[in-house]
Amino acid sequence: MAQTMVLFFFSGTGNTWWCAATFAREAAASGLQVECISLEAVTSKIAHKRIQEADLLGLAYPVYGSDAPEPVHRFVQSLAPAETEAAPKRALVFCTQYLWSGDGAAVGADLLTERGFPVIWTQHILMPNNVCLPIQPKFPFTNDLGRLGGKLRRARNKLRHLAVRVAQGRPLHHGRSFGARLLGRLQREPYRRMQPTLRTVLAIDHDICIHCGLCLEICPVSNIADFGGSLMMLGQCVFCLRCYNFCPVAAITAAGRHHEQRRGTPYRGPCPNFDPRILRQSHPC
Ligand SMILES: Cc1cc2nc3c(=O)[nH]c(=O)nc-3n(C[C@H](O)[C@H](O)[C@H](O)COP(=O)(O)O)c2cc1C
Repeated sequence: MAQTMVLFFFSGTGNTWWCAATFAREAAASGLQVECISLEAVTSKIAHKRIQEADLLGLAYPVYGSDAPEPVHRFVQSLAPAETEAAPKRALVFCTQYLWSGDGAAVGADLLTERGFPVIWTQHILMPNNVCLPIQPKFPFTNDLGRLGGKLRRARNKLRHLAVRVAQGRPLHHGRSFGARLLGRLQREPYRRMQPTLRTVLAIDHDICIHCGLCLEICPVSNIADFGGSLMMLGQCVFCLRCYNFCPVAAITAAGRHHEQRRGTPYRGPCPNFDPRILRQSHPC
């Protein structure tokens, strides 16, 4: 019988969703059946049931300052400890990143290890940059899917290689060396200190907002609420940039500054016309 994996993922703007779906397709070719579940749309009770039913456990997320996004921390901490199971499921963690994170996947591996799951595979996948804010230096950035094609092809190859390793049970420990952990920590510590500030950096410009409600619908942590027709942020932002990037009229500001057109259109996922609403569904792959 084919091995099965339940892969929980978080994706702010579509890259990790794409990687999860691609990994599942590549794994199927190697005889491993992968069920991808968005951790935004699953309760810990259902997650526990799915983990019990599967042979292997997977976790995927975008790297934020060499850290895992807050919803990932919360999700893993809500899982029932694996000690209560007869044989803890072996686990895979992969993260997506634009450039570098040092030990981005090892952070998720630490979280799962704390819950009692032995992490056998960790990997980093390079994907397009989803950050293009007016408050930071301009990083090389393009939304031209033609130019992004090479990056996506390399990501697919890496995911294929990863799927083969997992199907064959051959361990892979990327980003877990002493050096990677040290460098990751150097970026993570200041990023964690910035987090309380980041919760309130984004805001809605009511003069530009057209009240389409998209941001309210797609926010992964329900940080946007409608107060009598006026949309407000509630101070719980996890800085995934989904609202900023997908707002059709660029009404989201960062530290009071509007999006600068010279930086191009904000990144809107790795395929044309990507609809961020699917990330709120439990099985979007
Ligand atoms: C708040 C934030 C911090 C980020 N930090 C890093 C980083 O430290 N290193 C990196 O290479 N990419 C970083 N990125 C880029 C994303 O990790 C990358 O584009 C990722 O593939 C986005 O995945 P998603 O579309 O699934 O959200 C960061 C993005 C955000 C929004």
